[in-house]
Amino acid sequence: MGLIPQHFIHELLARVDIVDLIDSRVPLKKAGANYKACCPFHGEKTPSFTVSQDKQFYHCFGCGVHGNAIGFLMEYDRLEFPDAVEELAAMMGMEVPREETVSNAPKVDTSLYDIMEKAANYYQQQLKSNKSAIEYLKGRGLSGEIAKQFAIGYVPGEWRNLEAIFPKLQQDKKLQQQLVECGLMIRKDSSLYDRFRDRIMFPIKDKRGRVIAFGGRVMGQGEPKYLNSPETPIFHKSNELYGLYQARQANRKLSRLLIVEGYMDVVALAQFGINYAVATLGTATTASHLQQLFRTTRELVLCFDGDRAGRDAALRAIEHGLPQMREGREIRLMFLPDGEDPDSMVRKVGKEQFEEMIGKATPLFEFILEHLSAQVDLSSVSGRGQLVHLAKPYLDKITDPIYHEFFSSALSEKAKLSESKLAAIIEAPTQSQPSRKPTQSKPQSTKTNKTLQLAITLLLQQPSLALNLKNYDWLLTLPDKGSKLLHQLLEIIHKTPKINTSLLLENWRDNPKLYDRLASLAMTEREERIQGQEQQELQDCVNRLLLHARKIRVDYLQQKAAEHGLTNQEKSEYRQLLLLAKQGSNGNSAK
Ligand code: UTP
Ligand code: MN
Repeated sequence: MGLIPQHFIHELLARVDIVDLIDSRVPLKKAGANYKACCPFHGEKTPSFTVSQDKQFYHCFGCGVHGNAIGFLMEYDRLEFPDAVEELAAMMGMEVPREETVSNAPKVDTSLYDIMEKAANYYQQQLKSNKSAIEYLKGRGLSGEIAKQFAIGYVPGEWRNLEAIFPKLQQDKKLQQQLVECGLMIRKDSSLYDRFRDRIMFPIKDKRGRVIAFGGRVMGQGEPKYLNSPETPIFHKSNELYGLYQARQANRKLSRLLIVEGYMDVVALAQFGINYAVATLGTATTASHLQQLFRTTRELVLCFDGDRAGRDAALRAIEHGLPQMREGREIRLMFLPDGEDPDSMVRKVGKEQFEEMIGKATPLFEFILEHLSAQVDLSSVSGRGQLVHLAKPYLDKITDPIYHEFFSSALSEKAKLSESKLAAIIEAPTQSQPSRKPTQSKPQSTKTNKTLQLAITLLLQQPSLALNLKNYDWLLTLPDKGSKLLHQLLEIIHKTPKINTSLLLENWRDNPKLYDRLASLAMTEREERIQGQEQQELQDCVNRLLLHARKIRVDYLQQKAAEHGLTNQEKSEYRQLLLLAKQGSNGNSAK
């Protein structure tokens, strides 16, 4: 299936009314300029979930979720982006057009995705004719069918295997560059050679099924046991999960996902019919992993080794899990007997018994309490007090009020303390979270950053304000973070003058962190706001930034004058700048 063209997404978002859409699922009440409801994404008693018709955007001031109509469907109906688009289009009676990716796209051949796909096919082909690789996989108990399902392959031991599929490699400098860029080849001094040689190859796919990286295992002994693709423009290890694509393919609705450590674990479990396992790629479980997984399912079972390292890994995963707990979501943990991993375990006990073990996995909160209780003496008062202190950092990480209450009442029971006593201990400030303390000395450019932020906020909230600003390329000379972003916003709005907040934010969909940040700026009510003054406010920001840019230039020219002298042109620029500065301080606004 082809890509959904960007223009269609814009058209769709321009036609849909987010208020109608959300109201059909979560009844909304009018409140001032906006609509409100109790947030469907976290438990609350007073409504802080706000929907703006002007901005075509929703935001919860309680838990921070936000997005446009597509984002709402993704979160509320738990849909992937293309499915949410399909759903929304169906509601509007529109047909989703698809871009032809193969036929009329001549560039496809050179894209990194394409190279990876070609390599994966080649490795798969090579496996068929390599006896020892086949023997190795057989020896590990893999069926041909499952190897095919996961597109497992083999790369021979030559230094330039890839030349077989890229015959022009020798002459084609651009291709060489791309092969290095996607991590398949290594350039050292003047030589160019394959990264992967004589290994079993596990292609790693993204959510859409595109090959983005490989894990390559040695057959038998050798270091490293698994060689993985490096970070590349299309592969970010700590965001990806091995097997997620396959798990979603195999299940229409996933009621739970099992998170394991290894490639072989995922594959072996799938072979035994447990086709809902995914693996992190040799990294700890990150917040981004959990976030993605919770978009796919409500229940996560984290599977660890029974040893000390497994316990530590579990504790680290929990830190990321706690802030993401909310109504309907569940995390449980299971620990395997010492010396076993899911691969060996499922081969030993079979599907049924393994699934029984999954069923008995420990709920997250129970695990925390048990783990902490084991470190203190619960029979003494001071031991029980200690328990509360140990538990506090965990409690602090729970943002969902319902879960917070649930955990603190479980804790008070365990510590045999009344909830009010517990509350008193808990209210006291912790020392364990230095990140929350305000930083002492502010960096020099705080003022400029504030100005940038205000300008960005104004544009996000009222894009049309940009249309009165004409020359702004000098923004790119500012070193401050945010100046490029401001410039980008101005450019986009000038190109699409009728754009609204929600469409504007679409430009950052691929950067979830920035998207979130910008979305909350877009939805924040500014207390100091005076209606009708926004254009002036923006102009003031721009004036301040321009003065700042000139000052930087003046400083530079002064330094250059002292060190190397100035060219005639620079001298005249310098005089001009000084003149402008003088006018500026006389009260004339910068232009
Ligand atoms: P394990 O050492 O537990 O391997 O590493 P495994 O998955 O059980 O593999 P087999 O059964 O020995 O073949 C778990 C995961 O850690 C990463 C890989 O993602 C692996 O699947 N890892 C491990 C590496 O990236 N490099 C290594 O050298 C070892
Ligand atoms: Mn293993």
